[in-house]
Amino acid sequence: MDRIRIRGGNCLNGTIAISGAKNAALPLMIASLLTEETLTLDNLPRLADVAMLKRILGNHGVDCMVHGKRAGQNGMHGETIDLTAGAIVDTTAPYEMVSKMRASFWVIAPLIARMHQARVSLPGGCAIGTRPVDLLIDALKALGADIDIDSGYVVARAPKGLTGARIAFPKISVGATHVAVMAAALARGETVIENAAREPEIVDLALCLTGMGARIAGAGTATIHIDGVESLGGARHRVMADRIETGTYAIAATMAGGEVFLEGASPATLGTPLSVLNKVGAEITATNSGIRVRRNGNGLAAVDVTTEPFPGFPTDLQAQLMALVSRANGTSHIRETIFENRFMHVQELARLGADIHLDGQVATVTGVDRLKGAEVMATDLRASVSLVIAGLAAEGETVVNRVYHLDRGFERIEEKLRGCGAAIERLTT
Ligand code: EPU
Repeated sequence: MDRIRIRGGNCLNGTIAISGAKNAALPLMIASLLTEETLTLDNLPRLADVAMLKRILGNHGVDCMVHGKRAGQNGMHGETIDLTAGAIVDTTAPYEMVSKMRASFWVIAPLIARMHQARVSLPGGCAIGTRPVDLLIDALKALGADIDIDSGYVVARAPKGLTGARIAFPKISVGATHVAVMAAALARGETVIENAAREPEIVDLALCLTGMGARIAGAGTATIHIDGVESLGGARHRVMADRIETGTYAIAATMAGGEVFLEGASPATLGTPLSVLNKVGAEITATNSGIRVRRNGNGLAAVDVTTEPFPGFPTDLQAQLMALVSRANGTSHIRETIFENRFMHVQELARLGADIHLDGQVATVTGVDRLKGAEVMATDLRASVSLVIAGLAAEGETVVNRVYHLDRGFERIEEKLRGCGAAIERLTT
């Protein structure tokens, strides 16, 4: 199993090209099931989760054609793929697949909307908490689907198709909003989604669906209106820049010191995290083509942060921020409100010398003068990258095990960091 070795202490200086967003790419790929025509996606990140979803969609009958490289392109450019669900040959998503990638549960929405039936495995255990799917199921029920749970599978039927409805979510959920939007796009009549997630990835999905002929208004706000259409067509859509990858490298540059340009990043999707980094001690400049992050070597300041749905501070940057403030002057408090068990990095950061006390959902982080390299591992993607960030500032050598977690969501992380001067390499034995 691959590992990543980092020798800490180097500043980061240079340019990092930001990839397409994993959490936009996955629902966009799933949306290809809504039409028999071709959906072309540009700027798809080269990630293990994307590769896995190609296989899952292939199982339902989606043809996936990767475009060849064009003149002037190198490995740093995202992929362009054509997804064509001409005929859906299987409306079952089996346990072996859904259990490997939770987001693949979302195929239930296009399958029930277009084929009027779906049988999708419940996702099962998850490293960052229980993560139920009750809100997703309730949304489909509101649109008229009959739902049974049978031997670990959600069996959904709507013989006459779905019907538009009012869906008022009791809690904000990104996945439930994606599912409601996709299903309502092909439902008869009007749907109003209240208390919708406002994440930029929802906006990206709505833009793509609109290009396919859907009638959607209000994506990016708490109330989304959808006028169902009979069928959707093909489209071409560019996957938005990854705001979590951007935030992660911004935190890495703040931790290591130096000046990094995050090329292609979208500042509008990162308001809260960038203002937090500014408080910690980074100078941030947003430009038309990306974000510049600079730290001049002065000490880091402690901060108090609570994770929240967008536009609040994202849970997907919580672990990285914790690594950063482990070196701050003073005490920071980080409250996790989205997932009840997203603190696996705490014990591993402690192995590097961080001083973190966990009390329920609040981590109290007392900054230390130095971290010292060690062998570490983590059980989810964002926790793993927090260890890489800590390793950049730790004395000596840090080895991060179970790199496959990183490969699920960070494209060529060691190449991108090495390009800015980090002493980081992948060990393949
Ligand atoms: N929830 C319910 N019932 C549901 C669905 C969700 O109670 O039916 C709860 C969850 O347990 C959680 C909260 O609602 O407490 C929010 O979960 P949400 O549904 O918003 O999360 P998700 O859609 O499963 C996506 C991202 C996550 C990201 C969260 C929150 C994708 C593929 N995943 O998950 O990304 O943390 O939104 O922003 O978009 C990651 O990329 O590392 C990652 C975990």
